[in-house]
Amino acid sequence: MDLKSQIDLARLPRHIAIIMDGNGRWAKGKGMPRVFGHRKGVKSVREATEAAAELGVEYLTLYAFSTENWNRPVMEVTALMGLLVDTIKKEVKTLNENNIRLKTIGDISKLPEKSQKALQEAIAETRNNSRMTLVLALNYSAKWEILEASKKLANKVKKGEMDPAEIDEAAFSNALATQGMPDPELLIRTSGEARISNFLLWQIAYSELYFTKILWPDFRKGHLYEAILDFQKRERRFGKTSEQIAG
Ligand code: FPP
Repeated sequence: MDLKSQIDLARLPRHIAIIMDGNGRWAKGKGMPRVFGHRKGVKSVREATEAAAELGVEYLTLYAFSTENWNRPVMEVTALMGLLVDTIKKEVKTLNENNIRLKTIGDISKLPEKSQKALQEAIAETRNNSRMTLVLALNYSAKWEILEASKKLANKVKKGEMDPAEIDEAAFSNALATQGMPDPELLIRTSGEARISNFLLWQIAYSELYFTKILWPDFRKGHLYEAILDFQKRERRFGKTSEQIAG
């Protein structure tokens, strides 16, 4: 039986998050510049998006550019931004044909004008799509997001719109960039690294973590199916005992 048909669609994660890693090493292994790896990584983005949408996953969040990525060589940052604009422009039509909505998390006001414009247009053009939401984390870091949420809540308290006692999990979640989205049940990281790297720290409190040695440019639909099957083999206990779960 093929991998896809082994997936139990009734127990699909509603939200999958992916740390796309290994583009640079993939390129280096082929004696090519790092940017070549990023370019190849776009096909993997397409594959992961298609596979998730076909299965019925509601949210797919991809870590495309972290706050820390600004520290890379200027040439690489410029190339990544260019690739982002080109890809977004090229793929808007496909997103619409497949009823996929685009969203971003992160401070996109720090991105080049061109990238901001392409993103805003794509977000506006896909905003009524309802099959799946593709979330790109761009100039994103979880610590930044948590600080922003704290400031938002502190300002509400200062203005007398909120009592500090009202700052509970729901209120805090609502102040995050992922407001309204379910937390990811499954977080995937490629390339053999086993780190979270400042990604969705609040939201992954109970996520299953899946690390694969596959480098991002080699990631295909089958790799997403493998991750989901592994997820479905695990028992999610949320702090309870196995007996409590069974009962
Ligand atoms: C990590 O590999 C990858 C990135 C920082 C960028 C991901 C970007 C893309 C796949 C292309 C554009 C994306 C979209 C959504 C259109 P790395 O460079 O850290 O690899 P390394 O660890 O081997 O150096």
